[in-house]
Amino acid sequence: MKAIVVYYSFEGNTKLIAQTISNTIDADIEELKPKKEIESKGFMKYLWGGSQVMMKKSPELFPLNKNAEDYDIIFIGTPIWAWTYAPPIRTFLENSNISNKKIALFSCHEGQNGKTFSHFKDKLKNNIFLGEIDFFAPLKSNKEISVTQAKDWAKEMLTKAK
Ligand SMILES: Cc1cc2nc3c(=O)[nH]c(=O)nc-3n(C[C@H](O)[C@H](O)[C@H](O)COP(=O)(O)O)c2cc1C
Repeated sequence: MKAIVVYYSFEGNTKLIAQTISNTIDADIEELKPKKEIESKGFMKYLWGGSQVMMKKSPELFPLNKNAEDYDIIFIGTPIWAWTYAPPIRTFLENSNISNKKIALFSCHEGQNGKTFSHFKDKLKNNIFLGEIDFFAPLKSNKEISVTQAKDWAKEMLTKAK
């Protein structure tokens, strides 16, 4: 079974988890990179990023190296922005034709995961969901625990997919 980890990360938390999953189960990895990234810092980043979510923006991404449709298992990871997945993930979901895949979802947040996983499931109909996991601020407070959890979860998802 071929597995890929597709993710977006603005500040590195989701990247840490994505790389951990990829290394643990030897999956390919694809980072979503918007052509125009947020430049704001501090509070302004929440205003700018949050408004992108509210306006349902799908920012243009740099071309992807791999096609998720070629894989059996797709891990998708996002930071939580305004209680849902970040805009580059919206672009990815809108531009891909993902069906009959085994999907595992993960997120990083600071306490409010919202309805993110049900939003994913609404967009990814006709797929099998293996599981989901969310991480609270891995880089700031829980790095080692989060990495251990991510490794265990990745193995569990792979076992479930077989
Ligand atoms: C624009 C924006 C909106 C955010 N909205 C939320 C939110 O609704 N709930 C939450 O718990 N954290 C929120 N956060 C915090 C991030 O989800 C959190 O810091 C996450 O770990 C960042 O992941 P990253 O380092 O991969 O970008 C927000 C961050 C940004 C920049």
